[in-house]
Amino acid sequence: MKLIIDDANIENIRKIYDYYPVSGVTTNPSILAKAGGNPLEHLIKIRQVIGEDELHVQVLEDSAERIIKEAEFLNKKLGANTYVKIPVNPEGLKAIKILSKKGFKITATAIYSINQAYLAAQAGANYLAPYINRIDNLGYDGINIAKNIQKILIENKYETEILAASFKNSNQLIRLAEIGIGASTCSSDVIFKLIDDKNIDSAISAFKNDFSKLDSSKKTWLDYI
Ligand code: G3P
Repeated sequence: MKLIIDDANIENIRKIYDYYPVSGVTTNPSILAKAGGNPLEHLIKIRQVIGEDELHVQVLEDSAERIIKEAEFLNKKLGANTYVKIPVNPEGLKAIKILSKKGFKITATAIYSINQAYLAAQAGANYLAPYINRIDNLGYDGINIAKNIQKILIENKYETEILAASFKNSNQLIRLAEIGIGASTCSSDVIFKLIDDKNIDSAISAFKNDFSKLDSSKKTWLDYI
């Protein structure tokens, strides 16, 4: 399962890229609004930080015709490895059908149901983005819906993959890794919390302490050089 950053904060993206095994950045209009400034310039900055990795950017128009124009514009400005995020309603589905035939990379987004997921896969989307935590908040089981979507993809031999989104915690993320979905995108906070654990620090400190008992002047292997 690929891990993707659902954040437009440049500092967070730089830090996560430096330390964590991530494969790209997803954004939506709310995430861009949080970062502030000119959204296009901001996306160009993100592109500079992440190189040719996946960058997912959401469209805002309502009609399929205008969504297609947005997709063409975003691809021209942000490069070939830009995934156009299109919400799955009837106009979005029409746009997905047309754009996928033209070879655009598409993330079908705002997925709350298996119906949407099935239709977007059939229309040729590359990724399906079910909103795990938002589905939970509606009283359904987000993880279970992702599992059922995965079953549809496998049974029908679609090349489409899941890009799960909307996570509240790392447990939700790991439960999706267990079923081998294609990718998950989560906020910087959830990524940082994956290994933010005092037990790790205390184990490391005990190991260091034991090693220094051998020779108090030698703390690490570098002291033997
Ligand atoms: O891109 C969709 C995803 O970011 C939604 O996450 O946390 O707003 O439910 P959230």
